[in-house]
Amino acid sequence: MAQTSEKLSSKDYIALEDKYGAHNYHPLPVVLEKGAGVHVWDVEGKKYYDFLSAYSAVNQGHCHPKIIGALTDQANTLTLTSRAFFNDKLGVYEKFASEYFGFEKILPMNTGAEAVETALKIARKWGYEKKGIAQNQGKIIVCENNFHGRTTTIISFSNDPDARQNFGPFTTGFVRIPYDDIDALREALRDDSNIAAFLVEPIQGEAGVYVPGDGYLTEAAKLCKEHNVLFIADEVQTGIARTGRILAVDHENVKPDVLILGKAISGGVYPISAVLADNDIMEVIHPGQHGSTFGGNPIAAAVAMAALEVVKDEKLAENAEVLGELFRIEISKLAKKSKLVSMVRGKGLLNAIIVNDSPNSTTAWDLCIKLAENGLLAKPTHGNIIRFAPPLVINQEQLLECTSIIGKTFLDFEENM
Ligand SMILES: Cc1ncc(COP(=O)(O)O)c(C=O)c1O
Repeated sequence: MAQTSEKLSSKDYIALEDKYGAHNYHPLPVVLEKGAGVHVWDVEGKKYYDFLSAYSAVNQGHCHPKIIGALTDQANTLTLTSRAFFNDKLGVYEKFASEYFGFEKILPMNTGAEAVETALKIARKWGYEKKGIAQNQGKIIVCENNFHGRTTTIISFSNDPDARQNFGPFTTGFVRIPYDDIDALREALRDDSNIAAFLVEPIQGEAGVYVPGDGYLTEAAKLCKEHNVLFIADEVQTGIARTGRILAVDHENVKPDVLILGKAISGGVYPISAVLADNDIMEVIHPGQHGSTFGGNPIAAAVAMAALEVVKDEKLAENAEVLGELFRIEISKLAKKSKLVSMVRGKGLLNAIIVNDSPNSTTAWDLCIKLAENGLLAKPTHGNIIRFAPPLVINQEQLLECTSIIGKTFLDFEENM
């Protein structure tokens, strides 16, 4: 049926994906064709507030003119050289991004999972070559309920059965401890000189926006230093102003040894990720030991610089901090009126409502369907948790309109249960 130029209905587009695409996602039944700022439109012309922002990638808002300008200018000039040659954008971007985040070096990749893989490789190599761990004995500490991506090594240390089942055999060398449990970290580090690194999300996003207790990251970084273990922060979801600071670790003034970024480093315009570290760590990587055809390509370099400039020019971290607070205040008021809201938690504009029903219920999903009908897109995670993460360019009036849509949807839903 479908020719590329033919305009179809939402139902038809969903049927196409169902028939020809692998079923590796379970999207809400909404087919989007356009985005601008905090809004997206479906193929029938219905307008929505986007409260997912492509899992916190579109922090700068959909189709930001400055970022799209950088993309199209560069796309018309030079797209890809591979790293077989130098290009006139990469070094400029590397200087810009290193200074922006306060590290001596950056290693550019494309997706979040690739950047996590990169960090793990760097940490292991650092463990053998700098720390003196015996060959193949290196271990990396990770947290329960982590989400770091979908590659075979990364799912090896996940405890999500869906992510792992029938994908083995798995990569070894990981030790999993409870999240936000400093004693567990202390115990795991005690008397084990084979630990190369501790990999942690400063807030666990996919798990349901778990914000660790104040001081956890500071203490964790301190313990890592004491044991000569690299502190690796995966800020793929929490980074780039999402939580009210450029990085979530900035709330505690912690500087990770290794920083992993993705998603919003491009404003959701292009797949760009990166690992940052200082020279004494990054220097373990030599030519031929790691890379990617597309990593650090001229388009990515131009797009990332524009996207990072927008974050500062438009004070997105400051906006996320103020409006995030307002969001939680408004939803806390709703929690007093609606039995469906167990709690609201989060930092900046990375928030979640815990729906007062079993994780096995469809209540959160059904609520998201109703939210979409009322013009707001959000997606459940882990059954009964709904994440709310709008583009950070949202203003106060829009945010209040959205909390009122959420309130009305929850109260109507409850009335009709
Ligand atoms: C903390 C974290 N790390 C890594 C990833 C993987 O990123 P990507 O989907 O770009 O591979 C994600 C994606 O949601 C994430 O939230």
